[in-house]
Amino acid sequence: MLFPDYRPRRLRQNENFRRMIRETKLSVDDLILPMFSVEGKGVRNPIASMPGHYQLSVENVVKEAKVACDLGIPSVMLFGIPDRKDALATSAYAKDGIVQKTVRAVKKKVKDLLVITDVCLCEYTDHGHCGVVQDGIIDNDASLDLLARTALSHAQAGADMVAPSDMMDGRIAEIRDLLDQNGFESTPIMSYAAKYCSAFYYPFRQAAESAPKFGDRRTYQMDPANSLEAIREVAMDVEEGADVIMVKPALAYLDIICRVREEIDLPIAAYNVSGEFAMIKAADKLGWLDGKKVMMESLIAIKRAGADMILTYFAKEAARELQRD
Ligand code: PBG
Repeated sequence: MLFPDYRPRRLRQNENFRRMIRETKLSVDDLILPMFSVEGKGVRNPIASMPGHYQLSVENVVKEAKVACDLGIPSVMLFGIPDRKDALATSAYAKDGIVQKTVRAVKKKVKDLLVITDVCLCEYTDHGHCGVVQDGIIDNDASLDLLARTALSHAQAGADMVAPSDMMDGRIAEIRDLLDQNGFESTPIMSYAAKYCSAFYYPFRQAAESAPKFGDRRTYQMDPANSLEAIREVAMDVEEGADVIMVKPALAYLDIICRVREEIDLPIAAYNVSGEFAMIKAADKLGWLDGKKVMMESLIAIKRAGADMILTYFAKEAARELQRD
């Protein structure tokens, strides 16, 4: 059908028509709020490049988690910043590690909220890499056991889901095995399956104090130029037992979300990462963009591409916007 028989503008002429033909909807159900937990009491350190976000001590994480829960956000993702770092990331899998303590507190005080934990070693290693380093090389197989132990310790502390973000090969199977052997067969794994080596993580690394001390993450995180490889990565994690798969970052990788959606029938999460958040906040502050509008447009774009859930530092603001609708 061509103009003048077909006039696409007919169904755009007012908001009721637009509502009726809207193909994608964003809901508070889709949102996951990432949070940063630190040792100490009464800590609320603002993160300069992530306005509205803080390094929080446990009791403040609980408070923030309560706010998120009251806004209807179903889930939070916890990152930990430990006091001590060492070559083997010992505090990543310590029973009283920062994430473990925080999970216990949040699960006790905010019953209706799902707590997902990020499983990685980079915040806990003195060199800042996501695995064990041997002769300057990130040793894949030597890292698997530590990652699995970290995931198990999170599950034992009460985590509802574990989310490995390290990008070592074979870690999903290793984590699934150890969880199952210890009676956690009902704990799902959200795999950061297609995680790119991205400069958009910069603000996060300041927030989590997890920047690598030498080199970069290109030997384990994916090359931004590749998309077929993303399908292989995702398929592999599905085979190994992932329950939810993630694409990260989100906005510069919408094509990847879309392709993965076509190939895989598991729920897909997309991580709207720190740099994506920071850019919008910075432009809004300068008066160069309407931050709220760009936020909502970005989130709907991530859903339209095929994501079922979105990890986003905008979760609380977006939840408030959605309440207003
Ligand atoms: C840890 C991890 C990172 C992010 C999530 N988990 C950083 C990295 O891989 O260096 C980034 C999240 C963000 O930028 O918001 N491996």
